[in-house]
Amino acid sequence: MNIFPNEVGSPPRILLLGGTSELGLAILAALGLPAGTEVILAGRDEQRLAAAGKELPGRISTMAYDATDTDGHQAFADAVFAAGPLDMVISAAGVLIPQDDAERDVRRAAEMVETNFTGHVTSLLAIATRMRAQGRGTIVVLSSVAAVRPRKANFVYGAAKAGLDAFARGLADSLHGSGVRVVLVRPGFVIGRMTQGMPRAPLSSTPAQVGAATAAALGGGKDTVWIPAPLAGLALALRLVPRPLWRRVAR
Ligand SMILES: NC(=O)c1ccc[n+]([C@@H]2O[C@H](COP(=O)([O-])OP(=O)(O)OC[C@H]3O[C@@H](n4cnc5c(N)ncnc54)[C@H](OP(=O)(O)O)[C@@H]3O)[C@@H](O)[C@H]2O)c1
Repeated sequence: MNIFPNEVGSPPRILLLGGTSELGLAILAALGLPAGTEVILAGRDEQRLAAAGKELPGRISTMAYDATDTDGHQAFADAVFAAGPLDMVISAAGVLIPQDDAERDVRRAAEMVETNFTGHVTSLLAIATRMRAQGRGTIVVLSSVAAVRPRKANFVYGAAKAGLDAFARGLADSLHGSGVRVVLVRPGFVIGRMTQGMPRAPLSSTPAQVGAATAAALGGGKDTVWIPAPLAGLALALRLVPRPLWRRVAR
């Protein structure tokens, strides 16, 4: 399947929300971008965005974007589309704040929910409306295995991801037949910056594996991808664990 079907065969234009995200950048690297592709890295820190852009092929630009600034997301989307049609958005902003910190200071819990859920909703609704109007586009959403079932050790993060996962599935159904596609990416534990210092969980993967599996799903016409693939079966099993046993899961 052609990942970037567009009317006039011009080079694609791609937006990465969370422009320094290891997983987002790994997806871009795995896509084998056609010559002339325009990549917009959107995020909070101009210097780190520029450094991330040096590793990528194509024409790179940066935009200021804060996932928690929901008031600004409509204007942000308007600015993106004012410069031309958009072929793909990868929604990768996220923070993993330890549960203890979120309980000690509830503003940190709000930061995690706003970054990992609310900000995706407002940004992607504004972008989806524009993509629907242009009749094409792909929306890649970074969910997580944490969305499957909240663990007591990490339930604020899990709740935000569950909300995001539900939002993405609803958005996909709402866009069905419009020419706009939603691809839901559900990695397990990825060995990288976000999980630095944490003990590895079973079925861990690397950012490169997430990139390759997402690119394969995009090319293969799939709408959901678990990384690694056996996580799909594990997720089913996790849902069936009786509650008294589930409560004893320590991490
Ligand atoms: N790593 C894993 O094990 C794993 C597993 C499953 C799902 N995920 C999800 O995959 C996504 C990408 O994670 P990653 O592994 O690539 O982590 P990462 O390398 O730490 O990237 C997170 C990105 O989110 C950005 N970000 C954080 N708060 C933001 C805000 N308020 N506004 C705008 N951008 C913000 C960061 O930007 P700054 O440079 O400004 O900090 C960074 O670009 C996240 O949604 C994460 O929850 C990760």
